[in-house]
Formats: sequence, structure tokens, C-alpha cells
Amino acid sequence: MAAANSSPISGQTVCVTGAGGFIASWIVKLLLEKGYTVKGTVRNPDDPKNDHLRELEGAKERLILCRADLLDYEGLKEAIRGCDGVFHTASPVSVSDVPDNVEPAVVGTKNVIYAAAEAKVRRLVFTSTIGAVYMNPNRSPDVIVDESCWSDLDYCKDTKNWYCYGKTVAEQVAWEETKKRGVDLVVVNPSLVLGPLLQPTINASIIHILKYLTGSAKTYANSVQAYVHVKDVALAHILVYETPAASGRYLCAESILHRGEVVEILAKFFPEYPTPTKCSDEKNPRVKPYKFSNKKLKDLGLELTPAKQCLYDTVKSLQEQGHLPIPPRD
Ligand SMILES: NC(=O)c1ccc[n+]([C@@H]2O[C@H](COP(=O)([O-])OP(=O)(O)OC[C@H]3O[C@@H](n4cnc5c(N)ncnc54)[C@H](OP(=O)(O)O)[C@@H]3O)[C@@H](O)[C@H]2O)c1
Repeated sequence: MAAANSSPISGQTVCVTGAGGFIASWIVKLLLEKGYTVKGTVRNPDDPKNDHLRELEGAKERLILCRADLLDYEGLKEAIRGCDGVFHTASPVSVSDVPDNVEPAVVGTKNVIYAAAEAKVRRLVFTSTIGAVYMNPNRSPDVIVDESCWSDLDYCKDTKNWYCYGKTVAEQVAWEETKKRGVDLVVVNPSLVLGPLLQPTINASIIHILKYLTGSAKTYANSVQAYVHVKDVALAHILVYETPAASGRYLCAESILHRGEVVEILAKFFPEYPTPTKCSDEKNPRVKPYKFSNKKLKDLGLELTPAKQCLYDTVKSLQEQGHLPIPPRD
């Protein structure tokens, strides 16, 4: 499991936006364990889907849930007021044919930055995505994808990839607006995130795996995906917050697997599920993984959990939470 070498800044108060989400719940958990006071924004503090936050160790003493939508500047301002730092993770995460998620991603990011500037926070950590880095059809296969790469906005638009479009614009806006307002920004760009769920609901990146176990996916796609463990993503956020010398973007991905490798690993660990054995595209050669570098993050001292373990932990967690029945083994 991952280990971070940053110096703890316990006693500080920090805000985590979208606190009830998959990644944010882990950030809140680890921050509380480190002694921080956390102001977590949620759209509805009374929604039982946020109850798991109140159960976290230290939550009774040091977690305050604040009601705020990303489009509600006053709510965000109130949540961020008095904070030393902000972790901005909230953003709609879904695959959609229509660009309705772009506004909360972009306007929400601006709102968080304005509120962070007013509160004079010492650092803002923004959760971007590898989707703001690698979506570029014109990249040569020899190029190593790293923090210098940006997704091609026209390509995202043409392919109706509104999630990557919105997140790429949001990250660009974050760099522009923080520069104008003198806010210290560090960005984490995670790949597809897997691992144990703390929240009771299933988020989009977990569905990516669940569909191979329930029988709903009959085939796997001829494509590749980079993976990372949710605990490592949370540790990366805290590490870049606590390390004064951290700056710029941090690609947060452990390794890239073809979907065929994913289903093979799942079938080996969990033969009781109907994992697909056929590729949906048997005419073309297997898509090869692109080259990428996670050196910048590793140089900060983070050890990343192997993708195989991410897959195992995801399924175990889905079983433990009752999202996935455990059929008897033969
Ligand atoms: N999971 C991945 O594979 C992955 C990979 C790379 C980057 N990321 C980024 O990581 C962040 C968290 O993603 P996640 O996987 O943890 O997803 P998640 O579980 O769906 O969490 C998203 C959070 O954003 C909140 N949110 C969405 N729209 C909002 C709005 N209009 N106002 C206020 N809050 C809003 C949600 O609140 P509600 O509960 O109220 O809906 C939820 O707490 C996102 O920025 C995402 O782009 C995720």
C-alpha cells in the first residue's frame, strides 16, 4: 500500500468540496486521521448517502458538513471561509451525450477559486483528470504522456466527450484564475480510480468494473485504460498539499491495462462471475498502451498500488457493501 513522506500539518482547517464522493470521502478520512479539521461541502447534508462521513474516525470532533452546490457562490464562500487550504474535488462525473456537465465543472471551479482567494488560503489542490492530459489523436505513439501534455479540446468536442472537455476547460480556467488572484494551485490528474468504496452509492469509475461482473457486459472493448488506487489518489492530494515544494500538475496513474487484461485478472481472482471472454472488435489488432510517466508523483515519495490489487480491492468492497452477490464457488 502507498506511503507518503510529507510532513503533517495537523491542526489546520481545510475544505473538501463534494466531500461525499468516492475520492473525496477518502481524502476526508485521511485528513481526519492526520488531525485536520475538515469542512466538507455536500449538496444535501441530510441525505443518508453522506452518513458514512459522520462515521469516520475523528468526524464527531473535527468534521463540519456545509451545504453547497458548485453554482452557489455564497455557500462555497461560507464553507471556505476560515480555511487554510482547499481540496476541490466536486464535479459531475458521468458519460453524457449533452454538455450539461460542463457548466458546473467550469463555473464551479471559478467559484471555488474566488472563494479561496477571498479566504487567502495557503494552497488549493484541484482534482483534474488524466482526461485533461491524454485525449489527443495527433500525439505520436513515441511520446511519453506526462504533465506537459494537454487534451485537444476540438477532439473532445467532436467525439462528444463532454466529461473530458469540461474537465480540461475547468483545469485551464483554474490555472488562469489562480494566477490572476494569487492563489497557490497544485493539480492532481488521476487516471481511472478503483478501490474500496467508503460511500454507500456506486460512482462512475466503479461501474466500469461492476459491469464485467454482473453479466451486463457481454464483451470487452478493444481499448486501454490507466488505473490507480483511490487511497493513493487521496494520499497524493494530501502529499501535494503538505509539500511546500510541490507545484504544477501531478499525473496519478499506476499502470495501463487493455480491457482484455482487466477481464482476465478479474476472472482469475473471481471465477464465480460471468466475466466476458470475447472482444467486441476481433477484426483489428489489440490496441497497445500509450507510454506515460508518473515519475513526478513518485519522486514526492508516493508508492503506487499495483492495478491488479486495485481490481481485487474494488470487487471485495462491492461484495462487502452488498452491491455484488457472492455466488457459491464450485
Ligand atoms: N473516479 C475516477 O476515476 C476519476 C478519475 C479522474 C478524476 N476524477 C475526478 O475526481 C473528482 C471526484 O470524482 P469521484 O470519482 O469521486 O466521483 P463521485 O463519487 O461522483 O463524486 C463527485 C462529487 O461531486 C459532487 N458534485 C457533482 N456535481 C455537483 C454540483 N453541481 N455541486 C456540488 N457538488 C457536485 C457530487 O455530489 P453529490 O453527491 O451531491 O452528487 C460528488 O460528491 C471529480 O472531479 C472527477 O472529475 C475522478
